[in-house]
Amino acid sequence: MNKKSVILLVFLFSATFIQAQKFIGLAKQPPMGWNSWNTFEINIDEKLVKETADLIVSTGMKEAGYEYIVLDDGWMTKERDENGDLVPDPLKFPSGMKALVEYVHAKGLKFGLYNCAGTQTCAGYPGTRGYEYQDARFYASLGIDFLKYDWCNTAGIDAKEAYTTMSKALKTAGRPIVFSLCEWGDNQPWEWGEPIGNLWRISGDIYPCYDCEYVHKEAAEPWSSWGFFKIAEMHKGIRQYSGPDHWNDFDMLEVGNGMSYEEDKSHFTLWCMVASPLIAGNDFRTMKKETLEILTNKELIAINQDKLGIQGFKYSDENDLSIWVKPLENGSWAISFFNKSDTEQTINFDWKEHQIKDELNDLELSFVKENYQIRDVWTHKDLKTTKKVFKASIKSHDVITLILKK
Ligand code: GLA
Repeated sequence: MNKKSVILLVFLFSATFIQAQKFIGLAKQPPMGWNSWNTFEINIDEKLVKETADLIVSTGMKEAGYEYIVLDDGWMTKERDENGDLVPDPLKFPSGMKALVEYVHAKGLKFGLYNCAGTQTCAGYPGTRGYEYQDARFYASLGIDFLKYDWCNTAGIDAKEAYTTMSKALKTAGRPIVFSLCEWGDNQPWEWGEPIGNLWRISGDIYPCYDCEYVHKEAAEPWSSWGFFKIAEMHKGIRQYSGPDHWNDFDMLEVGNGMSYEEDKSHFTLWCMVASPLIAGNDFRTMKKETLEILTNKELIAINQDKLGIQGFKYSDENDLSIWVKPLENGSWAISFFNKSDTEQTINFDWKEHQIKDELNDLELSFVKENYQIRDVWTHKDLKTTKKVFKASIKSHDVITLILKK
């Protein structure tokens, strides 16, 4: 190779490198962890974080894949300091944020913080607008691994620009940090988020209910939170934007936060089927055994974390029976039957009558051409094959999830 070609190659390589805005490869599978908001809102402190970190390890959640502990809104004081730096609230975190990050790291876990692209966070703490590079340096100096970046108080700001600036700031600060865009899907982040971030919210906030809309009437400008089925069905045609290192984020989990056992199962299943990040939002210190069993169902988690990273989709929806499928590695598929009605339902599913296609990935489930082995991942039992009609009853709001293997 002559000198000119070498120079050209080096130039092309550096240009590609500079262009790649985010750190590559930080979220090859949907991130898993815990976030403080759904249960604690701004009532957070270092004791809670330490206890949560201890419990992630001792309950087996870490072993199941939960990795990030993310402090949401409310970790700062109401004002920046005289240098313009953010200040972790010394009353909530008397040992300092860096010591807390180190505590979490020592458990083999990762640590995340929250801020907002606007002038203030949603709960009224200092936002990052105008301080992007300074805040990114601060996060890097604390040694954090994940930043959730929200969208309150952003009047007149362009979303793509704001998130791009923060992404560049993180890159410049030099510490690999998973960048979680929380812009609620208002500006189609799936269309521009991939080079910038690792995950992006596709909806407003989740609410612990099956498919309700909860209106916050008390707010000056009323807004809505959404039941998990509402979120799962909110956007059609965005699954092609999700994949390894760039995930559609269906919001944090409400498993263990007041819904019925069946509803918690369905919620967890849907998040696994659509390859959403799995960020638990319950109180681990009071977690029931059945909640832990749902959150650590390894066969369900394997569906979520499947290497192909394909977002599953709804195949059919008739008579309150909603059927979702997700292509998996090695020609396997996951299929989930959700009973959306208020009463128990019996299903008689004659596989041969169904030809399920994932046009986007050019994949097909053909029961005429193939005979699949069936595994029930909620009862952890091997069933018969797809030669026979599948018969089962499903309680109201419950789900059956099967893996079909060639
Ligand atoms: C927004 C986000 C939530 C949470 C709160 C914090 O509503 O969507 O997930 O971070 O702000 O104030």
